[in-house]
Amino acid sequence: MKKLGILVSGRGSNMMAIINACEQGAISAEVELVISNNKDSLALVLAQEKNIETAYLGSSTHPDLEALDNAMNEALIAHDIDLVLLAGYMKKIGPKMLASFKGRIINIHPSLLPRHGGQGMYGLNVHRAVIDAGDKETGVTIHLVDGEYDKGAILAQKAVAVAADDTPESLAARVLKVEHVLFAETIQKIIDGSIILPGV
Ligand code: GAR
Repeated sequence: MKKLGILVSGRGSNMMAIINACEQGAISAEVELVISNNKDSLALVLAQEKNIETAYLGSSTHPDLEALDNAMNEALIAHDIDLVLLAGYMKKIGPKMLASFKGRIINIHPSLLPRHGGQGMYGLNVHRAVIDAGDKETGVTIHLVDGEYDKGAILAQKAVAVAADDTPESLAARVLKVEHVLFAETIQKIIDGSIILPGV
């Protein structure tokens, strides 16, 4: 059984979609470890309620970026993690972890990348940018993670129509439902070999 490590920063609805899909057998893997860079994130509480091991690793536990990178890397290696999922994780991944888990770190982003990605483009900011740009279509992207925000190879995308009366909040809610489905489907495709990642 493949072992998943999930990195989170906030409320963790994508993390829960993955945990539930594993429990229901829609993903043939186990979530072994959840790491948050935010000690107050709801995701940590939700993971603990599911008896999943959690760790808080962030700027107050490791003020030095290199030390933080090492600590995350070591925690993931100690849990024998096969695939690392960024599920609403808002920080860059350090070089140590990128090297150890090369081609095995994936991120979900709430737009059709390359549109509306990059630094500062997270959460409602993304949906506000979509509406401000007058886009008729947005969506969800699952991609490999490299050293830059939202830049790695795209593994899956799904479009969502933007309605004329959408607010950032209404759009975020509709896109989030698609995120939960596409993330789980894509992870299972990686695990069953329909999407081939070199390291998995
Ligand atoms: C999700 O919409 C995810 O796509 C987005 O943050 C939200 C986290 O929600 N990620 C980014 O914007 C990454 N740049 P969740 O904690 O409920 O899964």
